[in-house]
Amino acid sequence: MLKLDISQVTGFLSADSLNKLQDSVNDANKSLYSKTGKGSEFLGWLNLPGNVSDNEINEINDCAALLTAKSDIIVVIGIGGSYLGARAVIDALSGNFNSLLHKNERKSPLILFAGNNISEDYHYELIQLLDKYDYSIIVISKSGTTTEPAIAFRLLKAHIEAKYGKPEAKSRIAAVTDKAKGALKKMADTEGYKTFIIPDDVGGRFSVLTPVGLLPIAAAGFNIKQLLNGAKNMMNLCAEKKPLDENPADLYAAARYALYQNGKVIEILASYTPNLNYIIEWWKQLYGESEGKEGKGIFPAGVNFTADLHSMGQWIQEGIRNIFETALRVESSKHSLIVPDDKENLDELNFLSGKKLSDVNKMAELGTMLAHVSGGVPNISISIEKTDEENLGGLIYFFEKACAISGYLLGVNPFDQPGVEAYKKNMFALLGKRGFEDIKQKLDKNLKL
Ligand code: PA5
Repeated sequence: MLKLDISQVTGFLSADSLNKLQDSVNDANKSLYSKTGKGSEFLGWLNLPGNVSDNEINEINDCAALLTAKSDIIVVIGIGGSYLGARAVIDALSGNFNSLLHKNERKSPLILFAGNNISEDYHYELIQLLDKYDYSIIVISKSGTTTEPAIAFRLLKAHIEAKYGKPEAKSRIAAVTDKAKGALKKMADTEGYKTFIIPDDVGGRFSVLTPVGLLPIAAAGFNIKQLLNGAKNMMNLCAEKKPLDENPADLYAAARYALYQNGKVIEILASYTPNLNYIIEWWKQLYGESEGKEGKGIFPAGVNFTADLHSMGQWIQEGIRNIFETALRVESSKHSLIVPDDKENLDELNFLSGKKLSDVNKMAELGTMLAHVSGGVPNISISIEKTDEENLGGLIYFFEKACAISGYLLGVNPFDQPGVEAYKKNMFALLGKRGFEDIKQKLDKNLKL
């Protein structure tokens, strides 16, 4: 079960500032559950964990099994909300060195990602690798028109068809997209790919518990039913009409908003285990795209401790005091490793002999928290019991629910992302896409071409 501790925040706030937010949090919940708030057409994620049927789960698992049976590698193509959630869960659950294992030592295919960048070298090197292995593709795009995944799919579709022939290639491709619109849907229908639908009312960054996340996660060999169960338990725990101290998502949203009102405009999410790095990346997208608009929003940053204590640690300890830190903790590790005793003690580490590494890590966590709090950085702590499907499902839903409440507390629409269009328009204009001629003229003028 997830535990939220805000005891190291209250000292930075006036005595009743959190209690004062109870009414605003109630209003935010009311808007959310009555679907009367901003962006209410995108609230499908709210009840999603209870709405995915056993049939859907079986269909996803069956498709994953088909792809898995014929693949050493599965390439998942997607960007943003169609990428980060799956990667976050797969990285968290896979062994740290899974990618280095021999294919026969791995229980499931290696999951690689594409379409999240336009790097020529990345895609060239991926294709070189795919020449040597059996592989399949899961291509994900809600709009079906996003440039980065479309380019990657064009490249890999040509490669997989040349490698296996069209009929076999078709059986190695699954698409996840809109039920009706977009180029990917059209292509999937024309080519006859196995297709999963993203519900209309679930936006990209809230879509990890739809086939967007579930299909790649199942293909990586993980239990999506347990992931959904964990999310469902959290959904029930964070339901409407609970006082702040009984509702972790609401309390997290209220604490960060109270800090924001006190000038803390940057939240740093810190993890102490490298396999959670992409949970941080997913969280950054969720909060960044949901809150950063209308000149408002907490800037979501991430650090990986203890590595970043030797780089960003200085800034956090003594830089501008406009930050707060949220530590993401895992109570038990999967394996046990003890620091060995050494008779000679040349490294002077015998004070740690016999201690579990996870206990040393916990003292690093505690020491860091105490140092940062005394340096003027409020600290929120989020702990999960262990890194498994159930706990990750709970963590995902917790962050989603808190993000929606946070957005409503700020007064923005947490479910749109108008700002991401600006770069796309410029890119299309610069690349000479039809319909963007006016923008091209303006850009040329700015660039003095
Ligand atoms: O959260 C979002 O909506 C975005 O990050 C999208 O997921 C991202 O732009 C990819 O869009 P699409 O799935 O339409 O290709």
